[in-house]
Amino acid sequence: MLIPQTSTSLIHTLRLRRQELANLIDFPAILWSGSNSPRNFPANPFPFRASSHFLYFAGLPLSNAAIRLEAGKLELFIDDPSPSSALWHGEMPTREEIAQKIGADVAGPMAELESWVEDAATIAIQDAATWTQQTQLLNRWILPQSPPEGIDLELAKAIVTIRLTHDQAALTELRKAAAVTVEAHKAGMAATPQAKVEAEVRAAMEGVIIAHNMTTSYNSIVTVHGEVLHNEQYHHLLQPGDLLLADVGAETQMGWAGDVTRTWPVSGKFSSTQRDIYNVVLAAHDACIAKIHPGVEYGDIHLLAATVIAEGLVELGILQGNPQDLVEIDAHALFFPHGIGHLLGLDVHDLEDLGDLAGYEEGRERSDRFGLGYLRLNRPLRPGMLVTIEPGFYQVPAILNDPNLRSKYQNIVNWQRLSEFADVRGIRIEDDVLVTTEGSEVLTAALPNSASAVEDLVN
Ligand code: GLY
Ligand code: MN
Ligand code: MN
Repeated sequence: MLIPQTSTSLIHTLRLRRQELANLIDFPAILWSGSNSPRNFPANPFPFRASSHFLYFAGLPLSNAAIRLEAGKLELFIDDPSPSSALWHGEMPTREEIAQKIGADVAGPMAELESWVEDAATIAIQDAATWTQQTQLLNRWILPQSPPEGIDLELAKAIVTIRLTHDQAALTELRKAAAVTVEAHKAGMAATPQAKVEAEVRAAMEGVIIAHNMTTSYNSIVTVHGEVLHNEQYHHLLQPGDLLLADVGAETQMGWAGDVTRTWPVSGKFSSTQRDIYNVVLAAHDACIAKIHPGVEYGDIHLLAATVIAEGLVELGILQGNPQDLVEIDAHALFFPHGIGHLLGLDVHDLEDLGDLAGYEEGRERSDRFGLGYLRLNRPLRPGMLVTIEPGFYQVPAILNDPNLRSKYQNIVNWQRLSEFADVRGIRIEDDVLVTTEGSEVLTAALPNSASAVEDLVN
């Protein structure tokens, strides 16, 4: 377990975060970090990623550890390295040394945790070994797929309140993730003329991230089939007429994420149909970012994107009707079927391990409308929130060939005209936008997004 350096200012930040939690709950909380999942045997594990809730309050990506928080006090539970560990992994810091790095008040081995579980709330960890341990120690079902209840729900709500907006230490990390993400995208564009398959562009992009000693914050999407929203295949040949959609983000050692998408022409030049649609998506992107201000409903930003896309598609002759009316009948969702974005922080889709608790203001629920069901954030914006803005246009066969949708929108879509845009399978433009007191700051603004600037970067 490699332990990144911590600083006195980080320890101070961690103390403030714990104090904030103490101000919101009057019972202890135990947060597990999670454990290494073995691939074929324990010494060959999948890459470890500590739980984000643990990272937020403990500040270090420790595995097989837990912290107990009560009244601002931090107790760390972690076993000292086994005697054979130094042979395979080098000299490891002791429990006491780790405790000092994170400003823990008390430290003990994992076995001692058993004596401290009474009346404690927790949050379910994704790996089965850990949620089984949580369930056994707390003597109630703790399942990552089930919504929290009782004091676990109260704890989850308190953590949402704290993590919805970012403190300065978090923003420093998020800016680092954004900067490396931007460099990765530039490298991907520059690598495209020499690349024969998607995998080579992915390698160029992830190479930048790895060279900064970071990891990807989710599985990269680097594909000429952008219409497959979460495509994780990289074997397709790059053909001169293709658009390449790259959704790639860096994650810092402390776990903070970037999440950016650009779409560029493999040849270095958009066709006129590709450029037309690209500019529709970009117009939606720019309009949404211009609207971001404290107090603005994120749901209204989604509807703005839908309206701008509908307007653009009407102008191009793909949709027929009044744009506002088209949005009301969800016609935009034929081509823009997902939400305009989500919270970003320690996770891409930050806090979504808690379902919609963070994304949706209390009392609101997901709509089952075709055009709103994938809206992941439905709250008024507040300074310190970091959100993505990621409009797109896709020709998804599962949508456009669906007999029910096809008949519902038979006279709304000019199918003949649409067929002229066959070289546009998927376009998305995504940036990371911080809500400020005055409006917004695009943390990934150093990556150009106009059609001509993107062409220049490829060339
Ligand atoms: N990278 C996943 C997303 O943009 O939501
Ligand atoms: Mn995103
Ligand atoms: Mn993304």
